[in-house]
Amino acid sequence: MAFSQGNAQKGFILLLLTASLLVLMSEAKTIVVGGSNGWNFGFNYTDWAIKNSPFYINDKLVFKYAAPSNTSAHNVYLLPNLWSFINCDFRKARVVANANQGSGKGFEFVLKQWRPYYFACAVNNGVHCSQGQMKFFAIPWPRRHY
Ligand SMILES: *[C@@H]1O[C@H](CO)[C@@H](O)[C@H](O)[C@H]1NC(C)=O
Ligand SMILES: *[C@@H]1O[C@H](CO)[C@@H](O)[C@H](O)[C@H]1NC(C)=O
Repeated sequence: MAFSQGNAQKGFILLLLTASLLVLMSEAKTIVVGGSNGWNFGFNYTDWAIKNSPFYINDKLVFKYAAPSNTSAHNVYLLPNLWSFINCDFRKARVVANANQGSGKGFEFVLKQWRPYYFACAVNNGVHCSQGQMKFFAIPWPRRHY
């Protein structure tokens, strides 16, 4: 009897520890897209997104890219679905950050909803997306409420 009660107590403590860990994990994070590479042509953002998953609702993604120059410019678009993402089809995409919004501290995007977000650079008729790997998607997980 005493033994199983002790076990139950241990179990309860473990439960508390797990719960507090979940609370810690639910703090919103600020994540720089591409890390020190920022948002640039030729970096594998799909790979980056896999390595930086999971994302959570209210996490903040920061897109950092230089202001447009003669040779280069970037922006951030949201594509409407997986098909347009795979094909880098921007016909129904919407701009979330223009070419000038990535400099300095970068452009911040909060993952607010439990849905897939398909990000891509639309520059050069989608060439940055199709050839430059400037695309990735993120599906933020819902947070627990305590
Ligand atoms: C980018 O990374 C993904 C995931 O690791 C991989 O499947 C893909 O082949 C990579 N793309 C290129 C062009 O290297
Ligand atoms: C950028 O383009 C402008 C206007 O065409 C030109 O005057 C300038 O020299 C160019 N700068 C560079 C670095 O190529």
